[in-house]
Amino acid sequence: MSQLITAEDEQGQRLSIDELRQQLLVLLFAGHGTLSSALTSLCLNLALYPDILARCRDEQRQLAAAGLSSIEALNSMPYLEKVLLENMRLVPPVNGGFRKVSRTCEFKGYQFPEGWQVVYMIGLTHRETEVYELPDQFNPERFESARAADLSRSAHYTPFGSGMRECLGREFARLEMRIFASRLVRDYSWELIESQDLDYTVIPVPVPKDGLKVHFKKL
Ligand code: HEM
Repeated sequence: MSQLITAEDEQGQRLSIDELRQQLLVLLFAGHGTLSSALTSLCLNLALYPDILARCRDEQRQLAAAGLSSIEALNSMPYLEKVLLENMRLVPPVNGGFRKVSRTCEFKGYQFPEGWQVVYMIGLTHRETEVYELPDQFNPERFESARAADLSRSAHYTPFGSGMRECLGREFARLEMRIFASRLVRDYSWELIESQDLDYTVIPVPVPKDGLKVHFKKL
């Protein structure tokens, strides 16, 4: 916030109060809402799939036993990495984005005139049956093979958007998720509290309708 308040352009102009307000709202949504949605859906998915949680926990225990530094450990979690990829495939924190057509073009027989606004849908892209077998299943193994490594960098997998306006906080967010998730699975167990609505509401970001109620226990 202090950076935004003191930032000046070439003419020494600062942002107006209204522009500051808008920038801060963007950062709160982009930097906080998205990440808390990803971590909430991770807690839910791991509670629903105890075998996957157990495998994540084993990986963390092996890393602790190997005595790696925290940075080395954060870069040596192949299974947790796949779980995080799959979590953002199934429940992308941002469901889509807007683009303006800069030049008339054609795609699959449809013409897109210059100046039109188009919407790209991340959630639908991540459930393309031609690319993802049984797309509604939470299955980190789909990111296991060499083909899957390419997949996570392709246009079929875009939790952070794509192109020039791709998420600025992508690597920071990935780091935060790895730190949070590794501590969570290593040090805590949790249970879903009964009688809550686990269906997602999606605007502005996906969260279970009752906000996800769990009991945490320190291990
Ligand atoms: C799991 C976490 C996150 C997800 C899934 C996510 C996703 C996205 C998506 C889909 C976009 C739109 C990209 C596009 O238009 O193609 C975006 C933009 C952006 N994100 Fe993130 N984001 C996350 C975390 C963060 C964090 C932690 C920050 C900052 C600390 C951040 C800052 C931004 C900014 C500034 C933009 C606008 C970039 C631009 O318009 O040039 N994001 N993000």
